[in-house]
This record gives sequence, C-alpha cells and structure tokens, in this order.
Amino acid sequence: MYIIRKSFEALYNLLKPAIFAATAKDPEKAHRLFVIFCRTLYKTKSDKAFFDYPKNSEFTKFEFSNAAGFNKNAEIPFSVLYYLGFNRAVIGTVTGEPYAGAPRPRCQRYPATQSMVNRMGLPSEGALNIAEHILKYEPSPIPLTINFAATPTKKEEQAIEDLLFTIRIMKNIKEVDRFELNISCPNISAAKYEIKALDAILNSICNKLKDKQLFLKISPDMDKEYASKLISIGCKYKIAGFVIANTTKRYIKKYIPKFPSSGGASGGAVYRHSTETQRLFENIIEENNFPQKIIACGGIDSVKKAKERLTLKTSGIQIYTPFIFYGPKLIRLIKRAYE
Ligand SMILES: Cc1cc2nc3c(=O)[nH]c(=O)nc-3n(C[C@H](O)[C@H](O)[C@H](O)COP(=O)(O)O)c2cc1C
Repeated sequence: MYIIRKSFEALYNLLKPAIFAATAKDPEKAHRLFVIFCRTLYKTKSDKAFFDYPKNSEFTKFEFSNAAGFNKNAEIPFSVLYYLGFNRAVIGTVTGEPYAGAPRPRCQRYPATQSMVNRMGLPSEGALNIAEHILKYEPSPIPLTINFAATPTKKEEQAIEDLLFTIRIMKNIKEVDRFELNISCPNISAAKYEIKALDAILNSICNKLKDKQLFLKISPDMDKEYASKLISIGCKYKIAGFVIANTTKRYIKKYIPKFPSSGGASGGAVYRHSTETQRLFENIIEENNFPQKIIACGGIDSVKKAKERLTLKTSGIQIYTPFIFYGPKLIRLIKRAYE
C-alpha cells in the first residue's frame, strides 16, 4: 500500500509542471482534472490504495480537512479525501439557489510563492443539487461540514430565507454535523456582514440548527475592535468557534508581484495575515475565558506551520492552496507528524 501511495505522490509531482503549464490561463481546468481523477478512483474502488495505515491507528487529536472552495459542489467523493488522510471534509460554499459566480478565468496561480488569487464570486450548484450529490455516495467515513452563504442575488430577509433553506436541506444528512457560515468572501459584498446584520442572521438561524455545530468563517483583514465584536456575538449565540481565515485583500508584493484589480489571496500570501488574526482571536478568547474553538486555515504548507497553528485553542486545521502546490504528500506528512 505504501508503495502505491508513494508512486501516486511521485506521479503528482511528475505531472504538475505539465498540468500547470497547460492550465496557466485558467487554473480551474486543473481542478476539474483532479475532480475527474478522484471520481475515477472512487468508481473503481482504487482510492483505498492510498491509505497506508491500518484503520485503528487513525489520528484523532485534531481535525484535518480540506478548506472550503476545494469541494464546492461535493463532486470529490469523501472516501477519497479520507483515504488521502483527511478526517473531516468541508463542502461548499453552498448557496441556497444555483449561482454561476464570476466569469472565467477567475483565479490565478503564483507558483514561485505558492500563492493564488481568486475572485470566484461564490459559484454553486445550489443546496438541493449538492445534497443530491452527497446522498449518491456510500455513507461518508468522515464527518461533513457544510460551508454556506446566501445566494449573492438575495438581500436582507431573502438572504436569511436562503440560508435557512440550505440548513433545512442539509441538516437531515446523517454525516453533516457542522455548518460553517462564510461571512468573509472578499469577492461578494453580500457576504461582508455588518455586525447588526450578522446579529439578525444568527438570531434567525441558530435555533434551526438542531444539534449541529456552527462555526463562522472569517476574514484575515480585520482590526481588534471588529474581532472583539465577532467574539461577543459568538458568545451571544453560543457558536462553536471560528475558522481563521479566508483569503486576504492585503496583497504583499513579495508574494503577489503584480497586484490584480480584485480577488482574495491565499497560500503563502495569506499565511502571515491568517496567523496574526488567529493570535488576535486566541488572545481575546483566552483573556475572557470564552469557550470558542479555532480552526486554523491559510497557507499551512508544512509540518512546521501546522505546529505553529495548532495551539491549545485550535481544534483543527484546513488546507486548500498548499495542496495544489505540494500535492497529497503534504497531507501524509502533517498527518504522520501527529500519529
Ligand atoms: C480557488 C479558491 C476558491 C475558494 N472558495 C471558497 C469558498 O467557496 N468559500 C470559502 O469559505 N472559502 C473559499 N476559499 C478560501 C479557502 O477556503 C481558504 O480559506 C483560503 O484559501 C486560505 O487557505 P489556503 O491558503 O489553505 O488556501 C477559496 C480559495 C481558493 C484558492
């Protein structure tokens, strides 16, 4: 098994330059190839070959999952993610209704700094279609998180109705035990909630979640005052915690040499911002003895960085952009470091 896994990792590294070159203008095409590959593994039941540990040695100390955007429409089967080494899978961002998002190309890779900029604009097949995809698979071996936001065309009460629709559709799926409200998409104005608007949303949705946890996915671009307000509102509605963080609009020249006119930066370009925001939240939560947990996300591309981000307040980590540049080996190395 281990040999098959290592060959797969080697194959990823071997094919990467050609795939990057062929998809440089529209990196979404590379993601499409990856989705097709994962679906083939699932259909031919070859995904199991990548799991090089006996099941009972599963690591349980922290949650390790893909970040939102990686499996927007639940097209990557969850067993493939499990056999690659994740112990949780995030789906979404799911919007209530199908939504096309921004015109392509809408993301760009920066291989020299292992960074990306995306302005996807929340494309989604919509809650009903995505639930159908989830239910078509065999039961997921790992718990599922639904990252969700209102369909960008919906405003105020309609937006709340849209969020409630997604909750209604998703909460009865057995493996879904958590929701992650995306309040930080840098490309959509509807997702940038004022505290008052967020209060109204949480007031409407929190009592509809049954026994499911709720996390808020936040931006790494905020000051201490806004962070304190978010934490207070988190206490008011007993939310489980914060995913820190989404992409950044604060481009650093070293990582993004030529600034694009729009989009959020991820990977290497967000590591510093997301780490600083995580520390800001940890300090406020600790000082006040608040119960919320943190899920660290943003540029975690090595065991060293995973260790920096996995603190006493962190319950898990998520990755997306680093997976693109380092491939499945990164998952194995991080997982191994904690076994
Ligand atoms: C192409 C792309 C699409 C993304 N789509 C979403 C999304 O739909 N919802 C969301 O909450 N975050 C989305 N993100 C942000 C990631 O989930 C993550 O927060 C961010 O990229 C930082 O982590 P990373 O450096 O590991 O990629 C997206 C990121 C990328 C690169």
